[in-house]
Amino acid sequence: MKQAIICVDDEDIILEALKDQLGPFFENQYLIETTTTAEEALEIYDELIESGYDVPVVISDYLMPGMRGDELLIQVHKRNPKVLKILLTGHANIDGITNAINKANLYRYIPKPWDRDDLILTVREAVRSFLQELEILQKNEELTRINENLELIVAERTSELSEANATKDKFFSIIAHDLKDSLASLLGFAEMLSNDFSQLCESDTKAIVDGIHHVSDQTYRLLQNLLGWANIQIGNAPFNPDTFDLTAFILDEISWLERQASKKDIQLVFDETNTMPVVADNKMISSVFRNLVGNAIKYSHKGNPVEILVQHSNNRVCIDIIDHGVGIPEERMQKLFHVNESNKTYGTENEDGTGLGLILCKEYLLKNQGEITLRSEVGKGTTVRFCLPAAE
Ligand SMILES: Nc1ncnc2c1ncn2[C@@H]1O[C@H](COP(=O)(O)OP(=O)(O)OP(=O)(O)O)[C@@H](O)[C@H]1O
Ligand SMILES: [Mg+2]
Repeated sequence: MKQAIICVDDEDIILEALKDQLGPFFENQYLIETTTTAEEALEIYDELIESGYDVPVVISDYLMPGMRGDELLIQVHKRNPKVLKILLTGHANIDGITNAINKANLYRYIPKPWDRDDLILTVREAVRSFLQELEILQKNEELTRINENLELIVAERTSELSEANATKDKFFSIIAHDLKDSLASLLGFAEMLSNDFSQLCESDTKAIVDGIHHVSDQTYRLLQNLLGWANIQIGNAPFNPDTFDLTAFILDEISWLERQASKKDIQLVFDETNTMPVVADNKMISSVFRNLVGNAIKYSHKGNPVEILVQHSNNRVCIDIIDHGVGIPEERMQKLFHVNESNKTYGTENEDGTGLGLILCKEYLLKNQGEITLRSEVGKGTTVRFCLPAAE
């Protein structure tokens, strides 16, 4: 910032002396303006401010024709109370000094004739104190800005924390209910086997063992989802993005899912396209794909096909998984990705699930700069689309 000092005295010789004495010390950094009247001094002050100058110090004589020095300093004070005002005067002018002290917050008065060193020291002190004040002001503004930023960050963190808290609650409720139920079933089956072993016929034993198999399978999947999800929450999920061909990937995944589909006479239809290289973590996308096609199978009626379409546009590759099953009511759609809502429904053949699949899919896709959207009509079916960044 440019800075100026204004000196006012009706005697040219005094102005010369002021300029001569202040010049060598301040001229490098400050513009030194001189004038013989208070009226002109005010004009100079206004012009300086308008042209972007700071005026840390005004030095004025007391007795001048026209406006007096104390009056001038009061006017300057009204314009900016931070300007440091120095009055040059004889001891006799006690009224003027008192007036300037009371109404202009006079910084110092220097008796005439003054001592050169005293003048220079006083002006130097005044300038320093003005600049210090300015700096404090700027620092304060900066602090206010930082404070506002901090408040925003705190609000953001608070909402993240309450989300994390909901996540933790969900985690415990899954452990408390689903895991407890699963283990209770296993215990029941085991007790039956243990207590009635000799009385059980082969078909009863088979039914119990099948039950154990089913519950263990379900519990294992629950634990897998739970761990996958917990790892994502604490940022511990192994993440190894790489380029791979989505077409080959889908063909491979379908071969794994066909057994599950064939149990409901469901055909997985995929029109093989050209190669579609994407960049993503293969394992995560495999988990996403299996859950989404698994859902399509679970919520489709026997014999209905599930179609898989791949499209490439604008550096994205999108996969549609289309089923003609039960569909999802509008009011449930909004809740599907919320951890603290229970979203689980049974499949058309009473298949059970963990209710965590879609949430995990979303987390995995987010990690891979992908996204997921659902369109559904009750009774007609559901289309789930997920997109990934295409490889260069
Ligand atoms: N294709 C779909 N058709 C109809 N409803 C669906 C479909 N996909 C998901 N849903 C609904 O969304 C809920 C949540 O799905 P999500 O995959 O998260 O859990 P899940 O399938 O119940 O459990 P899991 O994935 O562990 O087997 C399902 O229970 C079901 O109500
Ligand atoms: Mg699922």
